[in-house]
Amino acid sequence: AEIQITPMVTEKAEIYAHRGANDRFNESTVTAYEIAARDGVDALELDLRMTEDGELVVMHDDTIDRTTNGSGKVSAYTLAELREFETVEVFQQEEKRETIPTLEEVLQVFEKKEHYYIETRLVHGKAKMETKLIELLKEYDLLDRQHVSFQSFSESSLEQLQLLAPSIPLTLLFKKGAFNLEKAKEVPYSAIGVESTDVSLQVVNELHKQGKEVHVYFTDLATQKQEQKRVKSFNVDGYFTDFINYTQQLLNDK
Ligand code: G3P
Ligand code: CA
Repeated sequence: AEIQITPMVTEKAEIYAHRGANDRFNESTVTAYEIAARDGVDALELDLRMTEDGELVVMHDDTIDRTTNGSGKVSAYTLAELREFETVEVFQQEEKRETIPTLEEVLQVFEKKEHYYIETRLVHGKAKMETKLIELLKEYDLLDRQHVSFQSFSESSLEQLQLLAPSIPLTLLFKKGAFNLEKAKEVPYSAIGVESTDVSLQVVNELHKQGKEVHVYFTDLATQKQEQKRVKSFNVDGYFTDFINYTQQLLNDK
């Protein structure tokens, strides 16, 4: 009988637009996410912060100093007060005006057309944003695996999310330099988020053996492209990229 040889098919890794297309517009703005969506990424990566009056806004930092024309902690402002500030271009130092979006506004813009890879964090040391987040996703009928996944450095946040929405995939993030392979192997989450310089072939292979995906983030813009090339050879599963078009090209190359 003829022997059938099935070629090994390596699935293509996923591309997550880190804070939107922040190489072309103010990070974490609706426009930055629109550019990313037009580029055809696998997910929009969003960081959440909670305002003084309990609203969820899309912002990475604890304070608005770096990314807006204002200063102070997000948690010290009401949403109405935050609306008075404008985001600024961090990457290219150009003057472009746009306010800080709420999570709800982003969901209203993209509805079911995109996948939202949402990062939660503790608020004043407590898991306070999860209930509101789940409520919003339910309201927009987005609380399913096709449209949402969650990531956090905080295990208590992930535990809370698992209770509230057991079917949504969770990623435990590890801080740069603090990656712990034994812990990553043990935790009950489907993916592990690791800073690129902590990623090795051994790390990827061991986590794959446990059935876990490896999603890589990058903290140094200057070395990010070469780091992406390096981790590609280890067969990682997802890239939180600040250079969408570069990563698309990289993953298209054989
Ligand atoms: O969410 C993955 C990556 O974004 C984690 O680092 O600090 O950019 O949120 P950070
Ligand atoms: Ca993030």
